[in-house]
Amino acid sequence: MSDYVVRQITDAESRATFELLVRSLHGNPPSDERWARVAESWTADGRTGAFHDGEAIGIASSFATKLTVPGGGTVAMAAVDGVGVRADWTRRGVLTAMMDRQLHDFVQRGHVVAALHASEALIYGRFGYGVATRMATLQVRQPAPLRETVVAPGRVRLLSTDEAIATIPSLYQRIDTGRPGRIARPELWWPIAFNWHLHADGGNHRVAVHSGPDGDDGFAVFHVVPQNSYLDPERGAALEVRELHAASPEALAGLWRFLLSVDLIEVVNVRGRPVDDPVGLLLVDPRRAHTVGLDDELWLRLIDVQAALAARAYGSAEPVVLEVNDRMLPDNRGRYRVSSSGVERTEADADLQLDVDTLAMLYLGAWEAGPLALSGRITGASAETLARVDALFRTATQPWTGTHF
Ligand SMILES: CC(C)(COP(=O)(O)OP(=O)(O)OC[C@H]1O[C@@H](n2cnc3c(N)ncnc32)[C@H](O)[C@@H]1OP(=O)(O)O)[C@@H](O)C(=O)NCCC(=O)NCCS
Repeated sequence: MSDYVVRQITDAESRATFELLVRSLHGNPPSDERWARVAESWTADGRTGAFHDGEAIGIASSFATKLTVPGGGTVAMAAVDGVGVRADWTRRGVLTAMMDRQLHDFVQRGHVVAALHASEALIYGRFGYGVATRMATLQVRQPAPLRETVVAPGRVRLLSTDEAIATIPSLYQRIDTGRPGRIARPELWWPIAFNWHLHADGGNHRVAVHSGPDGDDGFAVFHVVPQNSYLDPERGAALEVRELHAASPEALAGLWRFLLSVDLIEVVNVRGRPVDDPVGLLLVDPRRAHTVGLDDELWLRLIDVQAALAARAYGSAEPVVLEVNDRMLPDNRGRYRVSSSGVERTEADADLQLDVDTLAMLYLGAWEAGPLALSGRITGASAETLARVDALFRTATQPWTGTHF
């Protein structure tokens, strides 16, 4: 029997578990001021803790939101926003016990999927999470003017921190292009993940809003990092973009034009862009823009495979029968017949076998079936079956989340 218990935390344990999380990620203990900013968001609901003699030794936290799936529908999602085990308790099964409890809790709460951002890629596959969106890191070297034919008639204005905190939440809600992988940002997300950064580092983040013919339709959050030195006093700074969201191609081009026009900047760096960001195509000289990284973004866990598969749209192709294996949530095990008109459980022979983490990789359209088969994640499929899977699951735009939690 283990010498710790795993259970939902109480409100009285909120600050201790938040501190545990911050310390496990090697941050300083949160000051009273920082705690005051996050306390409202760090409620006990949805947070699983591990305790030894009443003391917190592990935390697996989540909040409820919605995920946009191919076709533009949404599913109920648990966003796992903080996982940590105290350093003197690691590798003794604490995370495994918390994940097990958390997944069953998600079933009870009716979440169709769960998702997280992983600090390391080795941790979450064993719990059924697969990489369902990927993100590009882009670097644009100045000068990088836009081509004359780019249509971007809108205007950009800078907001004060207070204006940004008051207006960006509703603007984000309005900017919804239906791209798979987007998540809704609930009220409790903003103080921890947005307002906090605007106040951090002496408040050097700037917020730019784009307005088109129908009003505000995009925003960017960025800050500038000096690169000059004693020996290189004239060197231009780096402009680092934290967020970039736009409702239309014109708004996106307008925001790129603004970010690339700020004076005294040598390079614009952006982490976490969709892999189909068109910035290189907007430029007179496309070689000014480089993709310098391609990383996993959202790790997705299908909690209710049937409901998740039924919620998304499919391309047109002959149906395919998937045999899904799920080690931790056995109700998901079985065969699913996926066709352009929907999904049903079936006893028919399977066209292929895959684990639930691999199904999550296909689910939003980030991966093609071929590489998944080549890497042994999909088994038993002919080349013709793989082509059918792609025709059914492929999406017109690359999935992307663009929200860190
Ligand atoms: C990552 C972390 C949560 C793992 O917790 P833990 O209680 O040590 O995990 P468990 O003991 O349940 O390990 C389960 C399995 O995952 C493996 N594992 C756990 N963390 C791992 C890591 N960082 N790298 C590789 N494997 C890891 C274990 O070896 C074990 O494998 P096994 O079942 O084959 O023996 C913990 O080390 C931690 O808090 N790290 C610092 C904070 C952090 O990275 N949090 C994650 C943020 S997304």
